[in-house]
Amino acid sequence: MKFVSIMAFSLSVLFSGSVYADAVAGKSAYAAKGCIGCHGVGGQSMVSAYPVLKGRDVAFIVKNLTDYRSGARQNGTMNAMAAGLSDADIKNLGDYIGSLK
Ligand code: HEC
Repeated sequence: MKFVSIMAFSLSVLFSGSVYADAVAGKSAYAAKGCIGCHGVGGQSMVSAYPVLKGRDVAFIVKNLTDYRSGARQNGTMNAMAAGLSDADIKNLGDYIGSLK
């Protein structure tokens, strides 16, 4: 039993605790949710109307997406974009965008 619980613990660390896995999920979400269409490949916006996200850290991305979703930060476009994001989406997007160098 002890072995089984140690195995289960190690697996949960591998799969849920891994920043790498979250960044991979965030990269898919960044494309699937349409972020890439405005903020560009690798967060390098091509149009000055859309902020460059590359170089922003995880905390900045998570806070601003949460604020757009709640309406604490007002912007018609981003309020609509964030409305459909789950907490997990926001965390994954933060991990991905925060990893862009
Ligand atoms: C239709 C174009 C468009 C799409 C699609 C879009 N954004 Fe934005 N985004 C904007 C604009 C415009 C702003 C600036 C809004 C403002 O002034 O608050 C912005 C701002 C942001 C900011 C704050 C940047 C800063 O410097 O303050 C973050 C973070 C962000 N977007 C993330 C995302 C993510 C993640 C997605 C996908 C879920 C996404 N955006 C999809 C246009 C877009």
